[in-house]
Amino acid sequence: MNMEDIIIKKRDGGTLTSDEIKYFVKGYTAGDIPDYQASALLMAIYFQHLDKAETFQLTDAMRCSGDTIDLSGISGTKVDKHSTGGVGDKTTLIVGPLAAACGVTVAKMSGRGLGFTGGTVDKLDSIPGFSTSMEPAAFMAQVESIGIAVTGQTGHITPADKKIYALRDVTGTVENMSLIASSIMSKKLAAGSDAIVLDVKCGGGAFMKNLSDAQELSRIMCEIGESAGRKTVAVITDMSQPLGCAVGNALEVREAIDVLSGHGPADITELSLRLAGVMICLGGNLDAGTGSMATSGANAVPNAGAGLVDGTALARQAIDAGVALARQALDSGAGLAKLRELIAAQGGDPTVVDDPSKLTIAKVAVDVVADGAGYVCEIDAERIGIASQHTGAGRARKEDDIDYGAGVLLHKKVGYPVRPGEVLATVYSGNAHKAEAAAAEVKAAFRIGEGKPEMPILIKDIIS
Ligand code: URA
Repeated sequence: MNMEDIIIKKRDGGTLTSDEIKYFVKGYTAGDIPDYQASALLMAIYFQHLDKAETFQLTDAMRCSGDTIDLSGISGTKVDKHSTGGVGDKTTLIVGPLAAACGVTVAKMSGRGLGFTGGTVDKLDSIPGFSTSMEPAAFMAQVESIGIAVTGQTGHITPADKKIYALRDVTGTVENMSLIASSIMSKKLAAGSDAIVLDVKCGGGAFMKNLSDAQELSRIMCEIGESAGRKTVAVITDMSQPLGCAVGNALEVREAIDVLSGHGPADITELSLRLAGVMICLGGNLDAGTGSMATSGANAVPNAGAGLVDGTALARQAIDAGVALARQALDSGAGLAKLRELIAAQGGDPTVVDDPSKLTIAKVAVDVVADGAGYVCEIDAERIGIASQHTGAGRARKEDDIDYGAGVLLHKKVGYPVRPGEVLATVYSGNAHKAEAAAAEVKAAFRIGEGKPEMPILIKDIIS
């Protein structure tokens, strides 16, 4: 077997065998296959696609490329959550603590930014001292002791995805359904949780631009999860404009703290409560009748997630009960306290939660102002994501460093009225030229029109 034959086979529309997929994954992970051949195969896959069997095999080969975590020693249903990637998507920083504060065991493995989308690991790295690199034993011990841990991909877990992900990021091969599904699900399966909530982003600022693609990706990932015995639910959510107002690492951590303090933007607050609600359902100890967490095994609803069959009355009732609990955790400050505990446990400075000014924001700030009056009709999320990347908040090459304080802060969202000269957004960067260039891109991302636009639907579908 050799790599050139595999590339040519896929380039010409052939179906790869399980052995060929394993050969590529093993060889590339070991460094025996060079970047240029791996890039060529990824581009061939991008154009020719993988069928379902190939996607399952790629997922499995990547899952087996390193260690897998066995969380079975930890009691209760362990729930993971993953977003397919969006602009301004800091939900993990909110949803994880909310769900954990409601008694859900959250074992979360997160990724770095990819393309124009941000990554949870980069956001957490902007917290002074916070470590996103954990060995499996430490990860498990923390999940056991405080109910939540958020780690990056260690070198030992799905190292194949780590390498392929970084290569896709810089070779224009991110937006492929099979590559996204296998990347996400290989990590989720290796990370060992019993249940998985997938936030599948849909719209201009997501890899899936339309609902039918988002639904197909959701179904593939749910099938992969279920075939591995993990309860998997996909929530398809809007990404036609950035989520919340902050885009960029430290800016997003600051906004997550705002949300958990009860004064964050409405869209991200609402979505976080919904996702946490689904996690609470899947956590399996929700009493859907009363909307309270069962405190003992006798009251626990066994596998409450089983009620989550799309759109049934029970599903809606169970999710609503989960959301009500998440809301209580938000209102009582229990979610914020859990974030503080998480930061402290992973070596970070927990006082950032009480004083977010300890998060360093870049010095150069350039305002983007409206020329005319009207309503914000559109904010092109992908353009904002790219502008944020250009401030230094994201990577252009896989070895690039990140400017954690850089990014974009929106002051107006879709539906807001604007007057001429009003500030639409502020761009932050450590570099004045980058800030000016990104400000022009941010301006081009706004469309101001005369009439009030229809508001986008935040949650478009739930698939299980
Ligand atoms: N998130 C991932 O983990 N992988 C992808 O390919 C896309 C989003």
